[in-house]
Amino acid sequence: MNAQTPNIGDSQPAKRPQIKQLDDVAVNRIAAGEVVERPASAVKELIENALDAGATRIELCVKDGGKTLIRVTDDGHGIPAQDLPLALSRHATSKIDGSDLLNIHTFGFRGEALPSMAAVGRMTITSRVAGEDAAQIVVDGGAMGAVTPAALSKGTVVELRNLFYATPARLKFLRTDRAEMGAISDVVKKLAMAEPYVGFTIRDLSRDDTGRVTFRADAQTGDMFDALSGRLRAILGAEFADNALPIDAEREGITLTGYAALPTYSRGNSISQYLFVNGRPVRDKLLVGALRGAYSDFLSRDRHPVVALFLELEPTKVDVNVHPAKAEVRFRDPGLARGLIVSALKHALADAGHRASTTVANATLGAFQPERTDRPVYQMDRPSLGAMRASYQAQAPGFAETQAVYSRVDVVEPVAAEPVDQQLGAARGQVHENYIIAQTKDGMVIVDQHAAHERLVYEKLKKQMAENGVAAQALLIPEIVEMSDADAATLLTHADALSKLGLTLEPFGAGAIAVRETPAILGEVNAEAMVRDILDELDDLGDTQLVADKIEAVLSRVACHGSIRSGRWMRADEMNALLREMEATPHSGQCNHGRPTYVELKLADIERLFGRK
Ligand SMILES: Nc1ncnc2c1ncn2[C@@H]1O[C@H](COP(=O)(O)OP(=O)(O)OP(=O)(O)O)[C@@H](O)[C@H]1O
Ligand SMILES: [Mg+2]
Repeated sequence: MNAQTPNIGDSQPAKRPQIKQLDDVAVNRIAAGEVVERPASAVKELIENALDAGATRIELCVKDGGKTLIRVTDDGHGIPAQDLPLALSRHATSKIDGSDLLNIHTFGFRGEALPSMAAVGRMTITSRVAGEDAAQIVVDGGAMGAVTPAALSKGTVVELRNLFYATPARLKFLRTDRAEMGAISDVVKKLAMAEPYVGFTIRDLSRDDTGRVTFRADAQTGDMFDALSGRLRAILGAEFADNALPIDAEREGITLTGYAALPTYSRGNSISQYLFVNGRPVRDKLLVGALRGAYSDFLSRDRHPVVALFLELEPTKVDVNVHPAKAEVRFRDPGLARGLIVSALKHALADAGHRASTTVANATLGAFQPERTDRPVYQMDRPSLGAMRASYQAQAPGFAETQAVYSRVDVVEPVAAEPVDQQLGAARGQVHENYIIAQTKDGMVIVDQHAAHERLVYEKLKKQMAENGVAAQALLIPEIVEMSDADAATLLTHADALSKLGLTLEPFGAGAIAVRETPAILGEVNAEAMVRDILDELDDLGDTQLVADKIEAVLSRVACHGSIRSGRWMRADEMNALLREMEATPHSGQCNHGRPTYVELKLADIERLFGRK
């Protein structure tokens, strides 16, 4: 215990604390603690105010990661001179009248952002309403000055200097300028996605007063879908736009629009999940969970889909007054919102079944690209037909055997009916005992046979599951798997669900279970490895997931165990059969973990690689 702390044994009697009304400055500072956590939260509040004022162009100037200066300039409707002091008082807002907190159509409504920020920095507001003169007010550490005349042609400029200088404790927790700047641009990007018709610019003034434009998104035009897709292309990049599926769905008065990326275009974290409810960017567990559910078939748990999705519903059906920074919302009918997201995305992904992401092909091309040199490239003349034939002969198997062979290529004799017209083409060979090379009408396909087979098994398992449960095959001798009592108990509580998946487990004394049946489709499997894998999966999923999601996740694990491992040599007819089966199976463009099962190189791309085009 600290020496200054009064002890019971102290001679002075303990003083009873008095209840006092806090003054405005203290109240605002306390509120600022919730609303303005870091420069990025101030930026969010200021830009939201500009948007609520109907701005069409917003410029943000920042210095030192927002620590010394944040300035937002807009061309919105402005604040009348006589209202400036009111705008800076607590609980003063023009956006609601207080009678209906459930019917909110603006970003702001609490009437506390400006006074909170003004309590923890030095704020200057300059504003002009059409037909009136411009005016200015300065608040320094909570002390408000008088309204003075100013010069401004239109709209409002809010400047916040030396944020948190009045609250050094908070200042200490700020991160590097770079990190704060990153958080700021993230906030701006989100709001820019929500408002594609508004132009946004960020200018960094850290080095000089002209500054450097670090972000720019011009106002979009056209219908909502075009405007949004143009904006997303500007913010998330062309690659996202090329790999995204448009989403447009409606259920019982809720609409879901936006774009969701193909599973092969995913990320290692969930930062690139942009979710909006009635135009407001939110971070919502329910929505993130719904996304996970929608992609559970296609992505492993450590991969996250990239999406920009907008839920619109009657404002009375969602409570936005949950969190001071309004980052969370509460749905009146959470199941409905979740269901809509899951079904709309699953549908879109199913329709996109065979499309693997273009990034995959581009990455492949990138990898193939010869190293760039500054030396001139000498190109051979196009060889004569005779020379080409001779060269092909030299590469034929018989010939190759007499040469030094570094890696094995299994060449397939052409079969009578050539399936080159099929989507995945005719198998031409297998390399490194895992990759099937197939020729298509206008290019070639490389298939990862292990990933592809895993996907096919999974789809079959799902189909069996949906029909009447996965067919099981009894083991001649039950396999006994030893494990902790807790693990055994976990498995046994799921025994019923697992038996529908073709896996029959029974208790086997303390610290063990007996595996009696395994899914027939998998053939001979290592039951112990499979059971341990399922345990891991159940552990990771915890109790949070819906039973249906759990079963799918477990099914996907089970599928891994029956797949052709890489390293298995395949005959030509087997390879072709695999290709045909892939074509006939939904979602076969990616494996259960979101990796692609094949990549396609168009002849034109191949020619580009060789500098022929
Ligand atoms: N850029 C702006 N242009 C026009 N009016 C503004 C601007 N910024 C603020 N105002 C006016 O000042 C008022 C107070 O702003 P403040 O951000 O404190 O509260 P709010 O936006 O109403 O609610 P919240 O605290 O939820 O943001 C607003 O209601 C609005 O009338
Ligand atoms: Mg506001």
